Amino acid sequence: MSGHGTPIPMISRPCGPLKGEAHVPGDKSISHRSLILGALSVGETRITGLLEGDDVLDTAKAMRSFGAQVTQHGPGEWSVKGVGVGGFAEPDHVIDCGNSGTGVRLIMGSMATSPITATFTGDASLNSRPMARITDPLALFGCRAVGREGGRLPMTLVGAADPVPVRYTTPVPSAQVKSAVLLAGLNAPGETVVIEKEATRDHTERMLAGFGAEIRIEETEAGRVITLKGQPELVPQDITVPRDPSSAAFPVCAAIIVPGSDVLVPNIGLNPTRAGLFFTLQEMGADLTFENIREEGGEPVADLRAKYSPDLKGIAVPPARAASMIDEYPVLSVVASFAQGVTDMQGVKELRVKESDRIDAMAVGLRAAGVAVDEGEDWWKINGLGHGNVPGGALVETRLDHRIAMAFAVMGMATQKPMKLDDGGPITTSFPIFENLMADLGAQLVRSNG
Ligand code: S3P
Repeated sequence: MSGHGTPIPMISRPCGPLKGEAHVPGDKSISHRSLILGALSVGETRITGLLEGDDVLDTAKAMRSFGAQVTQHGPGEWSVKGVGVGGFAEPDHVIDCGNSGTGVRLIMGSMATSPITATFTGDASLNSRPMARITDPLALFGCRAVGREGGRLPMTLVGAADPVPVRYTTPVPSAQVKSAVLLAGLNAPGETVVIEKEATRDHTERMLAGFGAEIRIEETEAGRVITLKGQPELVPQDITVPRDPSSAAFPVCAAIIVPGSDVLVPNIGLNPTRAGLFFTLQEMGADLTFENIREEGGEPVADLRAKYSPDLKGIAVPPARAASMIDEYPVLSVVASFAQGVTDMQGVKELRVKESDRIDAMAVGLRAAGVAVDEGEDWWKINGLGHGNVPGGALVETRLDHRIAMAFAVMGMATQKPMKLDDGGPITTSFPIFENLMADLGAQLVRSNG
């Protein structure tokens, strides 16, 4: 688990053209949900293409602790024999979710309406993140939580013995909060309603429908209104996990900034609630095309071709797009450093409560690498220097945050001087094959001793 091990210093050197195909791993969001919904079904769910990153492996372990039989059959091939909605057993030890905010928040939701008690912990990053955004709505179902000051982990949840359904408007744009409430609503009688003012990733809704739950979605003046009928019998599924657009972002952005590159990233889901980065890159003038657009498992999918893009320009990224690219801002800020002019990112307060404060983590590292960054509580601006002009040569702290580590690794591929990472270990949380995959494309990313 990241954050539990010895730091792995890395160095990323400027490299020649990146070429070839990048087969990125399965989607992290869908992998977590496959395991959890599999555990809440009666019978065997089979999963192909599961992301075997630390975050998801921690969720697999947690599902075993709640009584599901979770088995790996081969690389990416897993099965889950579920215990049914309301069938979770009480775990006999602490549930360690490692680095994963998604893992812990979705699991808390899924046990909150069962009459069991569970204690959750994580690494230093996760134990500093806010959990009240989850425990507040779970309290409405009748679930009690006791944690550390500021609603932090470690935390014990006592599930509601007689849950009541809930109507809840999410105060922050968060798919984790929405999903926790919906998963809790599964074991409450009657209808649970979640209203979100801004649409966030909709994998939970799509997958709940796929597992046979009755779920309705209405677009109204107040926002997206999601209504779930409680206490369904979920039917096990055969799931093929699509490849992760948030992981695809790294080879795509690397190809855009490294002169002469041409990289194909096949089979990437283009669910509109996830694809904001790719449209933003196109608006910046990136040579990024969607090939072979098709539909798979009800989701739009394409092969992404990214080429070195000499004429990148800074743009204002619309705040309304933030939720659809929330995990991609760190690597976007790297691309923006190589563009001409200012890239202005507004409405991104949520970046401050991710695995790290991502605005601060990137701003500190970018400035050390010679890029001027302006920031406020919910915005930041990158003053792009243009290709060939970004100095680099900085040692950056990755702060137990995989996306910060990968963003700076990508940056070092095109700066004048190499970029050094104090710890590349967190990368395994979401993209365990990142180093090899980038090396196969031609990157000079190696482990170093500082
Ligand atoms: C996720 C939702 C997002 C995202 C995270 C995965 C999910 O978090 O940052 O990596 O799978 O639901 P928020 O919902 O808190 O924005």
